[in-house]
Amino acid sequence: MRNHLGIVLMAGLITAQIFWNACASRKSEPVKQKEFSAVDAHVKNGEKAFMTHCQKCHPGGEAGLGPALNSNPAPQFVKRFQMRHGLGVMPSFTKEEISKGDLKDISAYLKAWKKY
Ligand code: HEC
Repeated sequence: MRNHLGIVLMAGLITAQIFWNACASRKSEPVKQKEFSAVDAHVKNGEKAFMTHCQKCHPGGEAGLGPALNSNPAPQFVKRFQMRHGLGVMPSFTKEEISKGDLKDISAYLKAWKKY
């Protein structure tokens, strides 16, 4: 039963993500990196984790091997789900690779992009 619910939930999230992806344009506004230095420790830590794990495929939140993230309107919990489970070419990240705290901070970092 629990398993079944998980599959339904996952299918729903993937469908939603495909929809949100369709909304997101490939190109978005460039990020003003400098201004993050003034923001809180979580965003800074998120930036560090992002540079370690995500930057190579999502350079500065723009499209690289992966699609642009800045313009993706999906809610943060869906993005965190994607980081844990991966999708297509995107690898999944275990708790050993990205801790719970770091995952949250990456989320904060992604959100911060939208504010600046
Ligand atoms: C090996 C390259 C690679 C790495 C590393 C990677 N991604 Fe991705 N990412 C992708 C690809 C490719 C997709 C598109 C997946 C698909 O739709 O099939 C994607 C999709 C996404 C999406 C969904 C957005 C969209 O428009 O499809 C999010 C959010 C995302 N990545 C965040 C991250 C974060 C955060 C990290 C670091 C923890 C990360 N990715 C690391 C390749 C990567």
